[in-house]
Amino acid sequence: MINYKNEISKLISNSINIAYDKIIGFIEIPNNSSLGDYAFPCFRLAKELKMSPQKIAEQILENMKYDKELIDNVEIVGGYLNFFINKGTLVRETIKDFDKKRENYGSSNIGNGKNIVIDYSSPNIAKPFHIGHLRSTVIGGSLYKIYKFLGYNSVGFNFLGDWGVQFGKVMAGISLWKDEYEFVEGKEIDTILQIYVRFSKEEKENPEMTNLAKSWLRKLEEHDEETYKIWEWIRKISLENFKKTYKLLNSSFDVYHGEAYYNDKMQGIIEELKNKNLLVESEGAQVVNLDEYDMPPCIIITSAGTSIYATRDLASLEDRAKTYDFEKAIYVVGSEQQLHFKQIFKVFELMGYEKYAKNCIHVPFGLVVDKNGKKIGSRTGNSVVLEDIIHEAIDKVKNIILEKNPSIENIDETARKIGVGAIIFNDLNNSRVKDEIFDWDMMLNFNGETGPYIQYMYVRTKSILDKAGYVPNISDINTNKLLDEDSINIIKNIYLFNDIIVEAANKNEPSIISRYVLDIAKNYSVFYNNNRILSDDNDTTSARLYLTYMVNIVIENATKLLGMEMPEKM
Ligand code: ARG
Repeated sequence: MINYKNEISKLISNSINIAYDKIIGFIEIPNNSSLGDYAFPCFRLAKELKMSPQKIAEQILENMKYDKELIDNVEIVGGYLNFFINKGTLVRETIKDFDKKRENYGSSNIGNGKNIVIDYSSPNIAKPFHIGHLRSTVIGGSLYKIYKFLGYNSVGFNFLGDWGVQFGKVMAGISLWKDEYEFVEGKEIDTILQIYVRFSKEEKENPEMTNLAKSWLRKLEEHDEETYKIWEWIRKISLENFKKTYKLLNSSFDVYHGEAYYNDKMQGIIEELKNKNLLVESEGAQVVNLDEYDMPPCIIITSAGTSIYATRDLASLEDRAKTYDFEKAIYVVGSEQQLHFKQIFKVFELMGYEKYAKNCIHVPFGLVVDKNGKKIGSRTGNSVVLEDIIHEAIDKVKNIILEKNPSIENIDETARKIGVGAIIFNDLNNSRVKDEIFDWDMMLNFNGETGPYIQYMYVRTKSILDKAGYVPNISDINTNKLLDEDSINIIKNIYLFNDIIVEAANKNEPSIISRYVLDIAKNYSVFYNNNRILSDDNDTTSARLYLTYMVNIVIENATKLLGMEMPEKM
């Protein structure tokens, strides 16, 4: 496959004697194609060459000898060199390249089987699996699939919050009120949540409750048999409950090593920190001092003598490095834990693991807010349990379908794919650090920048191909039939697919793929509205059907990387 960026950079570099590596970083893809398919902003070299951008552009153009098969024309506009590539070559090469892979188009093996450990979802058990964990689950799940598609071995790591003070609360609550509640089989988790919520509320008015919770936690930490059994039971039913949500969202994990898994590894990590002279005493606690790095100390053992979140994360990180010899360890966790991860990674580096520490990446994201910008869940009475929300989406979609197309087959399955797809796409639609606006009308709008819109365009391509009984064959294709602007815009999208996926991985940013898939869906919609696919001219029909076939696969593969499923009909 021709790499236009590389080729153009080579041409420029040879014409002006500036290093290729430098040039390539400056090449742009203009938004407006009348300014070329690629552009080079000459002002980037003005300082170094002590020349005006205009002069630089003229000089490059004068020295440059380009192959007409590759580039049609180069123009100078406002200090830019605008490159117009040869569209015939682009179409021919893109189709040739696509046809080699077809269903696997976009995949590659740049990862060479190397391990990428991705910590995502990682909810706290015995607390509601609420909407706040949606983002980590969806973003992490997408990164998991993206790396895999690039030939890495993704390891999905669920670091359950299955230890700590929330258990003390639940257990204390159960001990106080167990006769007042019913534990219905399969719905025990709901009762546990009610108890947790009630305890947290009463605790605010009565500080004695906090002490009670602590005493239960102490019993748990001392491995009191009765207490431990209750803990195991709560963990089991919580996990069963989470797995229902995971199934709805199509998320899966390779490892469920929660915080409790590291209980017996705590001592080891503490010894290691001691041996490396990293632990100092501070106000009764054992900490790693991070003054030098402008961070507060990382607490390893609290003044009460217990290990904490950070200690467990360090033990787990060491375990991840040793078990997987990872290429990257990614943590998909909200922005509010930024400092925590900076501290952990720094301490790990100080422990002598710089090789791994430098490949640890915290991937933060914004909050889920309503359309007024208010954090969801802060209002009481609003359901924020993720499973309920997903079912609500599915029900809403089902009602929409019943109105529009009541005779559709597999309505439940279709409603599930669209409802879940809408939630996922809404989450990944914008750069992840931005807050996500959660608004039903917006995310379920079939004509907006939404999951349902993308699915609708997919279904359209599929029905065109099915109706035509299309069997792809590139020897039939006259590429001259795809040189109109509408077709070229789509071909350009298809050409870029590989680069888009690599960029999404490099930036750990699935929204790069969402924006891309929206773009190709919109371009196809324009093409479809302006052109007849099945025409009297056989050459035109074959070419347009192949184009439709490529769009169908690219949408399917791109959305699969986001975690969405495509319906057959809608
Ligand atoms: N359980 C934590 C929470 O809900 C997230 C854990 C993230 N992963 C980690 N290795 N610290 O806030």
